[in-house]
Amino acid sequence: MEASLTARDRVGIQDFVLLDTYTSETACLDNLRKRFHENLIYTYIGTLLVSVNPYKELDIYSKKQMDTYMGVNFFELPPHIYALADNAFRTMMSEFNNHFILISGESGAGKTEASKKILQFYAVSCPSTKVLNNVRDRLLLSNPVLEAFGNAKTLKNDNSSRFGKYMDIQFDHQGGAVGGHILSYLLEKSRVVHQNHGERNFHIFYQLVEGGEEDLLRWLGLERNCKHYRYLVQGNCAKVSSINDKSDWKTVRKALSVIDLSESDIENLFGIIASVLHMGNIKFEADARGYAMLNNNQEMQWVSKLLGIPNQVLQQGLTHRKIEAKSEEVFSPFSVDHAVYARDALAKAIYGRTFSWLVNKINESLANMDSSRKTVIGLLDIYGFEVFSVNSFEQFCINYCNEKLQQLFIELTLKSEQEEYEMEGIEWEPVPYFNNKIICDLVEEKFRGIISLLDEECLRPGEATDLTFLEKMEDKIGGHPHFVTHKLADQKTRKTLKRGDFRLLHYAGEVTYCVVGFLDKNNDLLYRNGKEVMRQSKNAIIKHCFPSTEPDSKRRPETVVTQFKNSLVGLTEILMMKEPWYVRCIKPNEAKQPGHFDDVLVRHQVKYLGLMEHLRVRRAGFAYRRKYEVFLQRYKPLCPDTWPNWKGTAAEGVRCLIKHLGYKSDEYKMGRTKIFIRHPRTLFATEDAFQVCKHKLATRIQAKYKGYKVKGDYLKQREAATKIETCWRGMMARRERQRRAWAVKVIKKFIKGFMNRHQPACTDNSEYLAFVRHSYLTRLKENLPKTILEKDSWLTPPPILQEVSQVLKKIYIRHMVRKYVRGITPQRKAQVQSVTSALFKGKKENYPFSVCRPFADTRISGPPQYSVPVVKYDRNGFRPRLRQLIFTQEAAYLVEEAKIKQRIDYSSLKGVSVSNLSDNFLILHVTCDDSKQKGDLVLQCDFLFEALTKLSVIVNKQNCIHVVQGSVRFDIQPGREGFVDFKSGQESMVYRAKNGHLMVVSL
Ligand SMILES: Nc1ncnc2c1ncn2[C@@H]1O[C@H](COP(=O)(O)OP(=O)(O)O)[C@@H](O)[C@H]1O
Ligand SMILES: [Mg+2]
Repeated sequence: MEASLTARDRVGIQDFVLLDTYTSETACLDNLRKRFHENLIYTYIGTLLVSVNPYKELDIYSKKQMDTYMGVNFFELPPHIYALADNAFRTMMSEFNNHFILISGESGAGKTEASKKILQFYAVSCPSTKVLNNVRDRLLLSNPVLEAFGNAKTLKNDNSSRFGKYMDIQFDHQGGAVGGHILSYLLEKSRVVHQNHGERNFHIFYQLVEGGEEDLLRWLGLERNCKHYRYLVQGNCAKVSSINDKSDWKTVRKALSVIDLSESDIENLFGIIASVLHMGNIKFEADARGYAMLNNNQEMQWVSKLLGIPNQVLQQGLTHRKIEAKSEEVFSPFSVDHAVYARDALAKAIYGRTFSWLVNKINESLANMDSSRKTVIGLLDIYGFEVFSVNSFEQFCINYCNEKLQQLFIELTLKSEQEEYEMEGIEWEPVPYFNNKIICDLVEEKFRGIISLLDEECLRPGEATDLTFLEKMEDKIGGHPHFVTHKLADQKTRKTLKRGDFRLLHYAGEVTYCVVGFLDKNNDLLYRNGKEVMRQSKNAIIKHCFPSTEPDSKRRPETVVTQFKNSLVGLTEILMMKEPWYVRCIKPNEAKQPGHFDDVLVRHQVKYLGLMEHLRVRRAGFAYRRKYEVFLQRYKPLCPDTWPNWKGTAAEGVRCLIKHLGYKSDEYKMGRTKIFIRHPRTLFATEDAFQVCKHKLATRIQAKYKGYKVKGDYLKQREAATKIETCWRGMMARRERQRRAWAVKVIKKFIKGFMNRHQPACTDNSEYLAFVRHSYLTRLKENLPKTILEKDSWLTPPPILQEVSQVLKKIYIRHMVRKYVRGITPQRKAQVQSVTSALFKGKKENYPFSVCRPFADTRISGPPQYSVPVVKYDRNGFRPRLRQLIFTQEAAYLVEEAKIKQRIDYSSLKGVSVSNLSDNFLILHVTCDDSKQKGDLVLQCDFLFEALTKLSVIVNKQNCIHVVQGSVRFDIQPGREGFVDFKSGQESMVYRAKNGHLMVVSL
C-alpha cells in the first residue's frame, strides 16, 4: 500500500480502500474505467482482487512478472493475480493452514482464465524436482482435458465452463506441489443432445471430428464433417473463429497420456464420444401400429461395434421398455417420440457418466499417496451467474449456486472483519448490506422452497406436468417478494412474462425462467432397460460407468436438483474450514471486445458482486491498519524521538510518533497489535511528510560533502551513494555474522544435548530434552489411534518419555472406550458386545469397522423384533431385488412393500453363512424337502453384523452362523444347488460368473 501511495496519482487508485469518496459508485466506476483503458485490469479492495476482462492478450503474465511477484509484500507492487496467489501461498506456508481462492463473476468475466493463471504461477514458483515436475505437468494438463469435455461455446463465452470445478492443490511442508484433487459439479448434460442457436456442443466432439487422425476416424466410423452429425449442428455454428479445434485436439491428445490414461482407455474414450455422435443420427420410423422401428441402419452398427454391445440387444433397448409384471418381464414398444426421448436420455447418461469417470481418472493421476502432513490451496472456478433470453433448469441451478456462494462470501467477509475488530479490542460499527439469505431460503427451504416443490411434483403419483409445478409454486410461494409469475404479476410486469414463466429476483438481478422441461430434467429418467443394455457393454469405461452393483430397484434415485443442493452443502463445508481469498471478475462488455468499457454493464456487476458493500465494510471504521512494528519502521524518521531508533515497545513508539504528527483522537484507534487509521487523507498526509523527509535526509547527507566544492554535483551524489551503500553493506554483514554465530551456538547445543541425552537432566541436555519432549508430544497428538482397535499402534516414545507415554496411553484408551460405550444403548451393551465379538472377531475382515457403528434396535418402527432393508438375489439368475428382512419371535420374513415373499420358521433355519471377507452377504440355509417350497436365501445387507447379532440373540443359537472361506453352496430347491463365490479385489462387484455362480468381489 505504501508504494501504491506514491503511485496514486498515476492511473487511478490501486486499492479502492484508499478512495476518499468510497461510498460513491460513480467514483469506483471511474477508477475502474481509467485503469482499464490503461490496461491496468487489476485493482484491490484490501486483499480482494477485482479483475476486469481485457479481452486481449496482455504482456503481464511472463516468467519475469512471476519472478517479480514472488515473495513480495502484497502492497509493494501494482495489483496482480500473482500477488494474490503468492500471498495465499506464503500465508499457508507460515501459518500451516488451508486456504481457498474463490473466483466469481458472471459467465465470460474471466474466472477460468484467472484460475489458470494462478495454477501457472504455482507451477513456476513452487520448488521443483523430477517428481514434483511430474505432478506439476499433470495439474496443468488436467485443464485442457477437462475443458475439452466440460466446456462449450455459449452466447456469453466461447469457452464457457459447463460444470463447476473445485480443485485442491496439495503442498508439502517445503511448499512443493505434491498432489491435487478435483471435485466437479453438475455438468450440463442436456447440451449433448441439444444446443441453442449460436451455441455448440462440448468442444471434444468438434476436436475429434476436425482434428482426429484419418486412421482414428476410419476406425470410429466418423466423417470429417461436423455438419454430418445432428448433435453438432443444432446451434448452427460448428465453426467459431476464436477456436482452433485442430490444434486443441493435439493438446488434448497429448494431455490424455500425461494424465496417465492408457492407450486402451483413450481408445475406449473416443469410442464413446464417436458412439454418441452416431446415436444422434439414429432415426426411428413408425411401423403400422405407430411403434418405433429401426431399419438396422449403419449408425446402429457403429454404436454396437464401438460400445461392444450386440446389435440386437441395442435395438431392443432403444425401441422397447421393459416392464416387470409379477415374475414376468414384458417388453412394451415405444412410440417414435418415446424412442427419440430414450435415445437422447441414453446419450446424455453415457456422456455424463464418462465425464465423471474422466474426473476420477485425473484424480487418480493427481493423488498423493504420501500420508505426511499437507496443506492445500483450493481453487473454486464455478459457473457464473447466467441470464439468457430463455432460461431453463440449468440456469436455475447455476444461479442458485451463485446465491449460495454470495452467502458464503457475506458470512466470511463480515465475520472475519468483525473478528479482527474484536481481536484488536475495537468497537465494531455494523454496515448495512443486502443479505441474500431470503433468496437462498426461497429456493432451498425444506417443504416450502422451490426445490422441495419441484421434487414433490416429480415424485408424486398422478399427472404432474411443468405447469402443475408452476401452479404449485404460485400456490405455495405466491406472496414472496422475490418471486413472480404471469398470473401473480401486476399489469405492467405481466407484459414481460409468458404464461409458462416464473421470475426470480436474484441478488444479481431478475431472471425469467421458462418452466418447460423442469420436471424432465430434474427426474433425469433413464429407462431401466437402457442401463441394462449398457451393462452388457464390452467397452471398459462404459462397463465401469454402468456397474452391475448399481441397485436396480424401483426406488427412485435422488433428483438432480437435490443431488446438486447436497453437493453445494458439501462444498460450503469444505470452504468454511479454509481461509478465503477472493477474485471478483468483471465483464467490461457483452461483445467480447477489447478496449470497450460498458458503464451500465459494469455498474450492474459492481453492484451485485457486492464490491461497494465490501468496500464499505473494509472502510466501516478504518481505511488502513498496520502492525505497530511495520508502521513504526516506515514512519519513524518523522519524529525526533523515534529516529533513528526507538527503545520502547512498538506500540509506545507509534503513540509517540502520531502525537508528534498531531493525529486527532477521532482519526485513529490503537488496537492490541495494530494501529487503525480512519481516513485515507490522514495516511496520505503522513506518507507525503515521509517523502519530504526522505528527500531532506538525502540532502543532509549531501551537505556533509559540501567541503568538496571543487567536485561537480554528479561526483557528490556518487560519493553519497557509495557511502550509503558501504554503511548498508556493513550493517547487513554484521547482521549475517550475528545470525551465523547464533546458528553455530544452537547447533553445538543440539549436538551436545544429543550426546548427553541419556544422562540425568543437566544444563548440557536440558534444552535438547525439552525439544525431544515437545516433538514427541506434537507427533503423538497427530498420530493418536483413531479407534480402540488400533490401540497397539501407539507411537513409540523416546526413552525419557516411556513412563509419560504409558500414562497417556492409559488415559487415552480409557477416553476412547468411554466414548464408544456412550454410543450404544445400555440394555444391549453387555449382551450385543459379547455376542458379536464371539461370532465375528478375527473371522471376518470388515468386522472391526462395525464396532464404531452403534447397533439400532430395529430399522423400522412397529411390532417386529427387528427389521432391516436387504437386497435379495434371485436363486435363479441372481437378479437383485430390494426387500425388507423382518425377524419376529418365531420366524424371519422376507417382505416386498406390504407383501410377504417368504417365511422362514426358525425351526427350519439350518444355519447362516457369511464369508470371511469384507462383503456384506449372508446366506440363510433352510430345510426344504418339498420341491414347491422356496430354497435358501442369498441376501446382501448394509447392517450385516447388527442383523446377524439380532438374529442369533432371537433364535438363541450362536453356533448357527458360519464364517466360511471361498465358496458357499446353497439350495436353489431340493436337489438343485447353487454357489456363491467370494473373493477380494480392486473394486467391489457382484455379478454372475461364467460358471453360473454368483461372484461377490469385495475390497
Ligand atoms: N486475463 C485475461 N487476459 C486475456 N484474456 C482474458 C483474460 N481473462 C479472460 N479473457 C478472455 O475472456 C474469455 C472468457 O474468459 P473465461 O475465463 O473463460 O470466463 P468465465 O470462466 O468467467 O466464464 C477467455 O476465453 C479469454 O478470451
Ligand atoms: Mg469458466
